[in-house]
Amino acid sequence: MTRSNVLEIEPLSPAIGAVLRGVNLAERASDDLVGDIRAALLKHQVIFFEGQDFTPTQQRDFAARFGDLHVHPLYDRDEGHPEIMIIDNHVDNPTDNNFWHTDVTFIDTPPMGSILAARQLPPVGGDTMWASMTAAYNALSKPMQTFLQGLEAVHDFAYAFTADGIAGSQAGREKYEKAVAANPPVTHPVIRTHPETGEPGIFVNSVFTRRIKGLRREESKALMAFLNNHIQQPEFVVRWRWRPGDVAFWDNRNTQHRAVDDFLPHRRIMTRATVLGDKPVFRA
Ligand code: SIN
Repeated sequence: MTRSNVLEIEPLSPAIGAVLRGVNLAERASDDLVGDIRAALLKHQVIFFEGQDFTPTQQRDFAARFGDLHVHPLYDRDEGHPEIMIIDNHVDNPTDNNFWHTDVTFIDTPPMGSILAARQLPPVGGDTMWASMTAAYNALSKPMQTFLQGLEAVHDFAYAFTADGIAGSQAGREKYEKAVAANPPVTHPVIRTHPETGEPGIFVNSVFTRRIKGLRREESKALMAFLNNHIQQPEFVVRWRWRPGDVAFWDNRNTQHRAVDDFLPHRRIMTRATVLGDKPVFRA
């Protein structure tokens, strides 16, 4: 257990994850506290706050202390708070985020972080897992690291979200087509240097990365399959069992996450605020 000015910080594993105690997210945080939370996020990559009771407005306001907020082009939004995305899964709307991914890498400046709050939980199940892309990168051999450093990949909204899966009604189809038109494919480096820590990490994911540029189709598929398998090693992963009032804040620049799809027929409702980041680069 370590202590910053006000926070008690309990790491959950050597690679990733810590619980932060001594903060009430419903209150406006001082600049010092925001600095301490940011420092904990940079060190632990995903941080957890337990037993919080904050409204969607407070969630939005807390997230906005870290940067501009993203409005998702497709997912449901909280009424009156377009920056708060609602993830409401039940028998008629099963989860679609049970695949390892980094949020919103289909835009030029993918989010620096996401803040997820548990609103309604199943009696058991519905955990979320995060993996450290820094730890996953560091575990690769030097020749593999060097090979990956020279590569770029295409990330594509339409690769993740298909018309079949989304556009059930005419209104749904129009919304989907608008979102596809507004989000053409973008290119990011396969290895990204974290803009604040300077550490390299893997920056491709199974949901949004369509292909690795310059490789033949089968080579790209094989390399993506290898990386998607590699990043899931338990040494890089922390798993959070949600309780009412829990909030998670992850650094989206060096992690991937996935929901665990084991709670149907129960309902699970989460709200997410997503903080925009900068353009990924690799610096040798
Ligand atoms: C997400 O993928 O952003 C949310 C994960 C979850 O619902 O556990």
